[in-house]
Amino acid sequence: MSLPDEVQKLKSEALERISKADSLDLLNDVKVEYLGRKGRVTGVLKGLKDLPVEERKEAGALANKARVEIEQSLKAAQDKLSGGGAAEGFDPTLPGTAPPLGAVHLLNQTIADICEVFHGMGFEVAYGPDIETDYYNFGALNFPPDHPARDMQDTLFVKGGRVLRTHTTPVQARMLEIHKPPIKMITPGMCFRNEAISTRAHVAFHQVDGFLVDEGVSLADLKGTLTAFCKAYFGENLKLKFRPSYFPFTEPSAEVDIECFLCGGEGCQVCKYAGWLEILGCGMIDPNVLDNAGIDSEKYTGYAFGMGVARPAMLKYKINDIRLFYNNDVRFLRQFL
Ligand code: DAH
Repeated sequence: MSLPDEVQKLKSEALERISKADSLDLLNDVKVEYLGRKGRVTGVLKGLKDLPVEERKEAGALANKARVEIEQSLKAAQDKLSGGGAAEGFDPTLPGTAPPLGAVHLLNQTIADICEVFHGMGFEVAYGPDIETDYYNFGALNFPPDHPARDMQDTLFVKGGRVLRTHTTPVQARMLEIHKPPIKMITPGMCFRNEAISTRAHVAFHQVDGFLVDEGVSLADLKGTLTAFCKAYFGENLKLKFRPSYFPFTEPSAEVDIECFLCGGEGCQVCKYAGWLEILGCGMIDPNVLDNAGIDSEKYTGYAFGMGVARPAMLKYKINDIRLFYNNDVRFLRQFL
């Protein structure tokens, strides 16, 4: 058989085997057998040197062409079997699938919304540590040692006599020490209490505190600020009331109740059939707290307030269980994107 005929035969054999191969392994066998170092087509190419010059040129071109054809058909068959290849099964004109994006958690969004209202009234945001000393969590805030008021907040203690802060009010004590009046701040953060977890309470939860210290600050300023905040956050028609209360760090102290959104004031499980829900504590900063921080309580007065973050969010978005915020079930979270 002439060399060109032999090349032609090898090529058709190889192409036929490629077209029948149903695995990448079989394709590889074909590749080795025909194109490998000791392969059959390679052998023909090596044999060219023994041909007379005039035949060599033509036969060489033919053999090379056959090699290229076999290589191309191998590549196409490999792509097909491995399910890919740029040409096969890929339509670059189709719209892509967007990767799912993360989003701000509803509690963080609520903190941002609350901060924005106060920011608009000129309050600065400040932060403090989650692990606090007994002094800032209690002592500086006018809780005397062994005072029963400490039991208002069931405390989690950590090694070295420190506590997981039970409220964000210690940030107030810290800020009063390092700033000079006028001081106007809000202090969001996490708090921890050794409480039974229920629909309304959690062991780890968020609060936002705020305070203002200057000359001549009065209870009327406190009422005006908090009324403006509640209306900005919940809506202009909100009904709210100030009710006398007690906190060691304020005198006088009050709590703000708003009409229960869920039942429109008629009474339901969430408001414990009262029609009203407590949303924040507040009062005029006790002179002892100012004095503890080195601020002259004869010259300056101030107001302060503190609220949980989950409660306003629950009311605004009609959520009936605080645990939903902390379970992080995406089916819940997705509703507030
Ligand atoms: N720290 C209080 C609590 O966790 C809430 C509070 C009440 C904060 C009155 C204040 C305040 O700053 O003035 O129950």
